Amino acid sequence: MAHKTIVGVLLANLLLQLQIVLANVPAVIVFGDSSVDTGNNNQIPTVVKSNFEPYGRDYYGGQPTGRFSNGRVFTDFISEAFGIKLTMPAYLDPAHNMTDKATGVCFASAGTGYDNATSDVLSVIPLWKQLEYYKNYRQELKDYLGQEKAETVLREAFYVISLGTNDFLENYYAVPGRSSEYSVEEYRYFLAGIAGGFIKILYGLGARKISLGGLPPMGCLPLERTRNLFFGGGCIEEYNNVAKEFNAQMQGLVSKLNDQLSGIQLLFSDPYDILLQMIQNPKSFGFTNARESCCGTGYFEMGYTCDKNNPFTCPDANKYIFWDAFHPTERTNSIVADHLVKTNLSGFLVP
Ligand SMILES: *[C@@H]1O[C@H](CO)[C@@H](O)[C@H](O)[C@H]1NC(C)=O
Ligand SMILES: *[C@@H]1O[C@H](CO)[C@@H](O)[C@H](O)[C@H]1NC(C)=O
Ligand SMILES: *[C@@H]1O[C@H](CO)[C@@H](O)[C@H](O)[C@H]1NC(C)=O
Repeated sequence: MAHKTIVGVLLANLLLQLQIVLANVPAVIVFGDSSVDTGNNNQIPTVVKSNFEPYGRDYYGGQPTGRFSNGRVFTDFISEAFGIKLTMPAYLDPAHNMTDKATGVCFASAGTGYDNATSDVLSVIPLWKQLEYYKNYRQELKDYLGQEKAETVLREAFYVISLGTNDFLENYYAVPGRSSEYSVEEYRYFLAGIAGGFIKILYGLGARKISLGGLPPMGCLPLERTRNLFFGGGCIEEYNNVAKEFNAQMQGLVSKLNDQLSGIQLLFSDPYDILLQMIQNPKSFGFTNARESCCGTGYFEMGYTCDKNNPFTCPDANKYIFWDAFHPTERTNSIVADHLVKTNLSGFLVP
Protein backbone atom coordinates (compact mmCIF):
# COMPACT_ATOMS: atom_id res chain seq x y z
CA MET A 1 0.00 0.00 0.00
CA ALA A 2 2.70 2.45 1.07
CA HIS A 3 4.53 1.64 -2.13
CA LYS A 4 1.49 2.38 -4.19
CA THR A 5 1.10 5.75 -2.50
CA ILE A 6 4.70 6.66 -3.19
CA VAL A 7 4.40 5.59 -6.80
CA GLY A 8 1.20 7.57 -7.06
CA VAL A 9 2.84 10.70 -5.70
CA LEU A 10 5.84 10.25 -7.99
CA LEU A 11 3.56 9.77 -10.93
CA ALA A 12 1.58 12.87 -10.09
CA ASN A 13 4.82 14.86 -9.86
CA LEU A 14 5.99 13.50 -13.17
CA LEU A 15 2.70 14.39 -14.82
CA LEU A 16 2.91 17.87 -13.36
CA GLN A 17 6.41 18.29 -14.77
CA LEU A 18 5.33 17.03 -18.17
CA GLN A 19 2.51 19.54 -18.12
CA ILE A 20 4.94 22.35 -17.39
CA VAL A 21 7.11 21.27 -20.30
CA LEU A 22 4.05 20.95 -22.51
CA ALA A 23 2.79 24.36 -21.52
CA ASN A 24 6.21 25.76 -22.29
CA VAL A 25 6.70 24.34 -25.74
CA PRO A 26 3.69 24.54 -28.02
CA ALA A 27 5.66 23.95 -31.23
CA VAL A 28 9.00 22.80 -32.62
CA ILE A 29 10.40 24.81 -35.54
CA VAL A 30 13.26 23.37 -37.53
CA PHE A 31 15.95 24.77 -39.83
CA GLY A 32 18.66 22.62 -41.33
CA ASP A 33 19.83 19.94 -43.72
CA SER A 34 19.17 16.23 -44.35
CA SER A 35 19.66 15.45 -40.66
CA VAL A 36 16.21 17.00 -40.13
CA ASP A 37 14.55 17.47 -43.58
CA THR A 38 11.15 15.77 -43.47
CA GLY A 39 10.24 16.25 -47.12
CA ASN A 40 10.90 19.80 -48.36
CA ASN A 41 13.25 18.57 -51.08
CA ASN A 42 10.39 16.52 -52.57
CA GLN A 43 8.96 19.84 -53.74
CA ILE A 44 12.04 21.32 -55.42
CA PRO A 45 14.09 20.37 -58.49
CA THR A 46 17.25 18.79 -57.05
CA VAL A 47 18.92 15.39 -57.16
CA VAL A 48 19.07 15.33 -53.35
CA LYS A 49 16.00 13.20 -52.73
CA SER A 50 14.88 10.19 -50.74
CA ASN A 51 11.15 9.98 -51.39
CA PHE A 52 11.34 6.46 -52.75
CA GLU A 53 11.88 2.96 -51.35
CA PRO A 54 13.71 1.66 -49.41
CA TYR A 55 13.78 5.05 -47.58
CA GLY A 56 11.03 5.09 -44.98
CA ARG A 57 10.94 1.30 -44.79
CA ASP A 58 10.36 1.44 -41.02
CA TYR A 59 8.34 4.69 -41.03
CA TYR A 60 4.59 4.65 -40.37
CA GLY A 61 3.04 2.59 -43.15
CA GLY A 62 6.51 1.88 -44.55
CA GLN A 63 6.18 5.15 -46.40
CA PRO A 64 9.08 7.05 -48.01
CA THR A 65 8.63 10.71 -47.05
CA GLY A 66 11.82 12.43 -48.09
CA ARG A 67 13.45 11.73 -44.72
CA PHE A 68 16.98 10.45 -45.23
CA SER A 69 16.46 7.44 -43.01
CA ASN A 70 14.59 4.17 -42.70
CA GLY A 71 12.24 5.88 -40.25
CA ARG A 72 11.99 9.07 -38.28
CA VAL A 73 14.65 11.76 -37.94
CA PHE A 74 16.09 13.39 -34.82
CA THR A 75 13.56 16.24 -34.64
CA ASP A 76 10.57 13.89 -34.91
CA PHE A 77 11.77 12.39 -31.62
CA ILE A 78 12.29 15.82 -30.06
CA SER A 79 8.72 16.80 -30.96
CA GLU A 80 7.51 13.53 -29.45
CA ALA A 81 9.53 14.15 -26.27
CA PHE A 82 7.67 17.43 -25.79
CA GLY A 83 4.42 15.53 -26.10
CA ILE A 84 3.49 17.51 -29.21
CA LYS A 85 3.34 15.07 -32.11
CA LEU A 86 5.26 12.10 -33.51
CA THR A 87 6.36 13.61 -36.82
CA MET A 88 7.35 17.04 -38.10
CA PRO A 89 5.51 18.28 -41.20
CA ALA A 90 7.62 19.73 -44.01
CA TYR A 91 6.68 23.33 -44.72
CA LEU A 92 6.48 22.87 -48.50
CA ASP A 93 4.45 19.65 -48.36
CA PRO A 94 0.95 20.46 -49.70
CA ALA A 95 -0.47 17.50 -47.75
CA HIS A 96 -0.15 19.50 -44.51
CA ASN A 97 -2.45 22.37 -43.57
CA MET A 98 -2.12 24.97 -40.84
CA THR A 99 -3.73 22.72 -38.25
CA ASP A 100 -0.68 20.45 -38.61
CA LYS A 101 1.84 23.23 -38.93
CA ALA A 102 0.60 25.29 -35.98
CA THR A 103 2.28 22.84 -33.59
CA GLY A 104 5.57 22.75 -35.43
CA VAL A 105 7.02 22.81 -38.89
CA CYS A 106 10.24 21.97 -40.68
CA PHE A 107 11.99 24.27 -43.17
CA ALA A 108 15.08 22.08 -43.59
CA SER A 109 16.48 21.04 -46.94
CA ALA A 110 18.81 18.10 -47.49
CA GLY A 111 22.15 19.12 -48.98
CA THR A 112 22.13 22.65 -47.62
CA GLY A 113 24.64 24.47 -45.41
CA TYR A 114 25.29 27.77 -43.66
CA ASP A 115 27.18 28.94 -46.73
CA ASN A 116 25.12 30.00 -49.78
CA ALA A 117 27.76 28.32 -51.94
CA THR A 118 26.92 24.97 -50.28
CA SER A 119 23.23 25.10 -51.17
CA ASP A 120 24.26 26.06 -54.72
CA VAL A 121 26.27 22.82 -55.18
CA LEU A 122 23.14 20.67 -55.50
CA SER A 123 20.48 23.38 -55.95
CA VAL A 124 18.75 23.02 -52.60
CA ILE A 125 17.12 25.53 -50.26
CA PRO A 126 19.67 27.93 -48.75
CA LEU A 127 19.40 28.95 -45.10
CA TRP A 128 18.38 32.51 -45.98
CA LYS A 129 15.48 31.10 -48.00
CA GLN A 130 14.45 28.91 -45.05
CA LEU A 131 14.25 32.14 -43.06
CA GLU A 132 12.04 33.72 -45.75
CA TYR A 133 9.73 30.71 -45.51
CA TYR A 134 9.70 31.10 -41.75
CA LYS A 135 8.62 34.74 -42.13
CA ASN A 136 5.76 33.62 -44.40
CA TYR A 137 4.85 30.99 -41.81
CA ARG A 138 4.67 33.61 -39.07
CA GLN A 139 2.07 35.51 -41.07
CA GLU A 140 0.16 32.32 -41.89
CA LEU A 141 0.14 31.40 -38.20
CA LYS A 142 -1.19 34.85 -37.28
CA ASP A 143 -3.96 34.48 -39.85
CA TYR A 144 -4.78 31.05 -38.46
CA LEU A 145 -4.51 31.59 -34.68
CA GLY A 146 -4.89 35.34 -34.38
CA GLN A 147 -2.08 37.77 -33.68
CA GLU A 148 -1.76 37.34 -29.94
CA LYS A 149 -1.94 33.56 -29.80
CA ALA A 150 0.47 33.20 -32.73
CA GLU A 151 3.01 35.47 -31.06
CA THR A 152 2.86 33.35 -27.91
CA VAL A 153 3.44 30.18 -29.92
CA LEU A 154 6.35 31.75 -31.81
CA ARG A 155 7.92 32.99 -28.59
CA GLU A 156 7.48 29.76 -26.61
CA ALA A 157 8.38 27.40 -29.47
CA PHE A 158 11.55 25.33 -29.42
CA TYR A 159 13.74 26.19 -32.42
CA VAL A 160 16.21 23.65 -33.79
CA ILE A 161 19.11 24.57 -36.09
CA SER A 162 20.87 21.50 -37.49
CA LEU A 163 23.36 21.84 -40.33
CA GLY A 164 27.05 22.37 -41.18
CA THR A 165 28.29 18.94 -42.29
CA ASN A 166 27.63 19.74 -45.95
CA ASP A 167 29.61 22.97 -45.77
CA PHE A 168 32.69 20.83 -45.28
CA LEU A 169 31.97 17.52 -47.01
CA GLU A 170 29.86 18.63 -49.97
CA ASN A 171 31.48 22.02 -50.46
CA TYR A 172 34.85 22.91 -48.87
CA TYR A 173 36.54 19.53 -49.37
CA ALA A 174 34.59 18.50 -52.49
CA VAL A 175 34.36 21.34 -55.00
CA PRO A 176 36.79 24.12 -55.96
CA GLY A 177 36.09 27.57 -54.59
CA ARG A 178 35.95 28.00 -50.84
CA SER A 179 39.15 26.05 -50.19
CA SER A 180 41.13 28.48 -52.35
CA GLU A 181 39.52 31.48 -50.61
CA TYR A 182 39.70 30.32 -47.00
CA SER A 183 41.87 28.14 -44.80
CA VAL A 184 39.71 25.61 -42.99
CA GLU A 185 40.03 27.69 -39.84
CA GLU A 186 38.92 30.86 -41.66
CA TYR A 187 36.04 28.96 -43.18
CA ARG A 188 34.96 27.85 -39.71
CA TYR A 189 34.88 31.51 -38.60
CA PHE A 190 32.93 32.41 -41.72
CA LEU A 191 30.30 29.74 -40.96
CA ALA A 192 30.10 30.67 -37.28
CA GLY A 193 29.51 34.27 -38.33
CA ILE A 194 26.53 33.16 -40.43
CA ALA A 195 25.20 31.00 -37.58
CA GLY A 196 25.49 33.89 -35.12
CA GLY A 197 23.74 36.26 -37.52
CA PHE A 198 20.96 33.75 -38.06
CA ILE A 199 20.36 33.30 -34.32
CA LYS A 200 20.26 37.07 -33.82
CA ILE A 201 17.63 37.41 -36.54
CA LEU A 202 15.51 34.66 -34.95
CA TYR A 203 15.88 36.35 -31.57
CA GLY A 204 14.92 39.69 -33.10
CA LEU A 205 11.75 38.07 -34.42
CA GLY A 206 10.90 36.83 -30.92
CA ALA A 207 12.40 33.32 -30.68
CA ARG A 208 13.84 32.52 -27.23
CA LYS A 209 14.40 28.74 -26.90
CA ILE A 210 16.90 27.76 -29.52
CA SER A 211 19.07 24.68 -29.99
CA LEU A 212 22.16 25.08 -32.16
CA GLY A 213 23.35 21.68 -33.34
CA GLY A 214 26.98 20.57 -33.50
CA LEU A 215 28.60 18.39 -36.13
CA PRO A 216 28.81 14.60 -35.91
CA PRO A 217 32.17 12.81 -36.12
CA MET A 218 31.84 13.27 -39.87
CA GLY A 219 35.07 11.43 -40.71
CA CYS A 220 33.29 8.26 -39.57
CA LEU A 221 30.40 8.49 -42.03
CA PRO A 222 30.55 5.31 -44.17
CA LEU A 223 31.11 7.33 -47.35
CA GLU A 224 34.16 9.04 -45.85
CA ARG A 225 35.54 5.76 -44.52
CA THR A 226 35.20 4.35 -48.02
CA ARG A 227 37.42 7.18 -49.30
CA ASN A 228 39.90 5.98 -46.72
CA LEU A 229 39.59 2.34 -47.79
CA PHE A 230 43.07 2.18 -49.26
CA PHE A 231 44.42 3.14 -45.82
CA GLY A 232 42.36 0.60 -43.93
CA GLY A 233 38.89 2.15 -43.98
CA GLY A 234 39.15 3.85 -40.60
CA CYS A 235 37.56 7.17 -39.74
CA ILE A 236 39.17 10.19 -41.43
CA GLU A 237 40.73 11.89 -38.42
CA GLU A 238 41.18 15.19 -40.22
CA TYR A 239 37.41 15.51 -40.70
CA ASN A 240 36.69 14.48 -37.12
CA ASN A 241 39.09 17.16 -35.92
CA VAL A 242 37.40 19.77 -38.10
CA ALA A 243 34.07 18.76 -36.52
CA LYS A 244 35.51 18.99 -32.99
CA GLU A 245 37.00 22.42 -33.63
CA PHE A 246 33.79 23.62 -35.24
CA ASN A 247 31.80 22.38 -32.24
CA ALA A 248 34.13 24.12 -29.80
CA GLN A 249 33.69 27.34 -31.72
CA MET A 250 29.89 26.95 -31.79
CA GLN A 251 29.90 26.25 -28.05
CA GLY A 252 31.78 29.53 -27.59
CA LEU A 253 29.26 31.33 -29.78
CA VAL A 254 26.41 29.90 -27.70
CA SER A 255 27.97 31.12 -24.43
CA LYS A 256 28.58 34.55 -25.91
CA LEU A 257 25.04 34.94 -27.24
CA ASN A 258 23.53 33.68 -23.97
CA ASP A 259 25.33 36.59 -22.26
CA GLN A 260 24.52 39.14 -24.95
CA LEU A 261 20.86 38.51 -25.71
CA SER A 262 18.71 38.95 -22.66
CA GLY A 263 16.06 36.29 -22.08
CA ILE A 264 17.47 33.90 -24.70
CA GLN A 265 17.80 30.21 -23.76
CA LEU A 266 20.30 29.08 -26.32
CA LEU A 267 21.46 25.50 -26.11
CA PHE A 268 24.37 23.85 -27.85
CA SER A 269 23.25 20.39 -28.81
CA ASP A 270 26.31 18.28 -29.47
CA PRO A 271 25.88 14.86 -31.06
CA TYR A 272 29.64 14.26 -31.42
CA ASP A 273 30.49 12.32 -28.27
CA ILE A 274 27.45 10.09 -28.15
CA LEU A 275 27.82 9.20 -31.84
CA LEU A 276 31.53 8.49 -31.49
CA GLN A 277 30.83 6.24 -28.50
CA MET A 278 28.27 4.37 -30.57
CA ILE A 279 30.65 4.01 -33.50
CA GLN A 280 33.54 2.86 -31.33
CA ASN A 281 31.45 0.51 -29.27
CA PRO A 282 28.40 -0.46 -31.32
CA LYS A 283 27.66 -3.65 -29.37
CA SER A 284 27.05 -1.86 -26.11
CA PHE A 285 24.25 0.03 -27.85
CA GLY A 286 22.83 -3.11 -29.44
CA PHE A 287 24.26 -2.46 -32.91
CA THR A 288 26.26 -5.01 -34.88
CA ASN A 289 27.57 -2.70 -37.59
CA ALA A 290 29.11 0.76 -37.37
CA ARG A 291 31.22 0.67 -40.50
CA GLU A 292 28.89 -0.08 -43.41
CA SER A 293 25.42 1.33 -43.78
CA CYS A 294 22.32 -0.82 -44.15
CA CYS A 295 21.41 0.29 -47.64
CA GLY A 296 23.15 -1.53 -50.50
CA THR A 297 26.75 -2.59 -50.03
CA GLY A 298 26.99 0.00 -47.28
CA TYR A 299 30.04 1.68 -48.77
CA PHE A 300 28.65 4.48 -50.91
CA GLU A 301 24.89 4.21 -51.55
CA MET A 302 22.74 7.23 -50.73
CA GLY A 303 19.92 9.10 -52.48
CA TYR A 304 19.20 7.59 -55.90
CA THR A 305 21.96 4.99 -55.55
CA CYS A 306 20.17 3.58 -52.48
CA ASP A 307 17.93 1.41 -54.61
CA LYS A 308 15.15 -0.86 -53.40
CA ASN A 309 16.33 -3.69 -55.64
CA ASN A 310 19.84 -3.78 -54.22
CA PRO A 311 20.27 -7.36 -52.94
CA PHE A 312 22.84 -6.33 -50.32
CA THR A 313 20.51 -4.09 -48.30
CA CYS A 314 20.34 -5.36 -44.72
CA PRO A 315 17.16 -6.95 -43.38
CA ASP A 316 17.22 -5.24 -39.97
CA ALA A 317 18.23 -1.58 -39.91
CA ASN A 318 18.05 -1.54 -36.10
CA LYS A 319 21.38 -3.36 -36.06
CA TYR A 320 23.09 -0.62 -38.04
CA ILE A 321 24.20 2.83 -36.92
CA PHE A 322 23.94 4.16 -40.48
CA TRP A 323 21.05 3.72 -42.85
CA ASP A 324 22.78 5.00 -45.99
CA ALA A 325 26.39 6.05 -46.52
CA PHE A 326 25.74 9.52 -45.07
CA HIS A 327 22.76 9.24 -42.71
CA PRO A 328 21.88 7.48 -39.47
CA THR A 329 19.17 4.89 -38.96
CA GLU A 330 16.02 5.75 -37.10
CA ARG A 331 17.33 3.91 -34.07
CA THR A 332 20.47 6.04 -34.02
CA ASN A 333 18.35 9.18 -34.36
CA SER A 334 16.25 8.08 -31.42
CA ILE A 335 19.30 7.44 -29.21
CA VAL A 336 20.83 10.82 -30.06
CA ALA A 337 17.52 12.62 -29.41
CA ASP A 338 17.06 10.74 -26.15
CA HIS A 339 20.55 11.69 -25.07
CA LEU A 340 19.85 15.37 -25.73
CA VAL A 341 16.55 15.24 -23.89
CA LYS A 342 18.18 13.57 -20.87
CA THR A 343 21.34 15.66 -20.65
CA ASN A 344 19.88 19.01 -21.56
CA LEU A 345 16.24 19.53 -22.32
CA SER A 346 14.58 18.78 -19.00
CA GLY A 347 16.72 21.13 -16.96
CA PHE A 348 16.81 23.61 -19.80
CA LEU A 349 13.09 23.96 -20.28
CA VAL A 350 11.43 23.44 -16.91
CA PRO A 351 11.64 26.78 -15.08
C1 LIG B 1 -6.50 20.12 -41.72
O1 LIG B 1 -6.62 18.75 -42.05
C2 LIG B 1 -7.23 17.95 -41.06
C3 LIG B 1 -7.27 16.53 -41.57
O2 LIG B 1 -6.02 16.14 -42.01
C4 LIG B 1 -8.64 18.46 -40.77
O3 LIG B 1 -9.20 17.72 -39.70
C5 LIG B 1 -8.59 19.94 -40.40
O4 LIG B 1 -9.90 20.46 -40.24
C6 LIG B 1 -7.86 20.75 -41.46
N1 LIG B 1 -7.69 22.12 -41.00
C7 LIG B 1 -7.91 23.19 -41.79
C8 LIG B 1 -7.65 24.53 -41.18
O5 LIG B 1 -8.26 23.10 -42.94
C1 LIG C 1 23.39 34.62 -49.10
O1 LIG C 1 22.49 35.04 -50.13
C2 LIG C 1 21.48 35.95 -49.69
C3 LIG C 1 20.52 36.18 -50.84
O2 LIG C 1 21.19 36.56 -51.99
C4 LIG C 1 22.13 37.23 -49.19
O3 LIG C 1 21.14 38.10 -48.70
C5 LIG C 1 23.11 36.88 -48.07
O4 LIG C 1 23.81 38.04 -47.67
C6 LIG C 1 24.12 35.83 -48.54
N1 LIG C 1 24.92 35.43 -47.40
C7 LIG C 1 26.25 35.55 -47.36
C8 LIG C 1 26.93 35.16 -46.10
O5 LIG C 1 26.89 35.93 -48.32
C1 LIG D 1 24.03 20.43 -22.03
O1 LIG D 1 24.74 19.25 -21.75
C2 LIG D 1 26.15 19.38 -21.84
C3 LIG D 1 26.76 18.03 -21.56
O2 LIG D 1 26.26 17.09 -22.47
C4 LIG D 1 26.64 20.44 -20.86
O3 LIG D 1 28.02 20.64 -21.04
C5 LIG D 1 25.90 21.75 -21.12
O4 LIG D 1 26.25 22.68 -20.15
C6 LIG D 1 24.40 21.53 -21.07
N1 LIG D 1 23.73 22.78 -21.40
C7 LIG D 1 22.61 23.17 -20.82
C8 LIG D 1 22.05 24.48 -21.27
O5 LIG D 1 22.05 22.51 -19.97
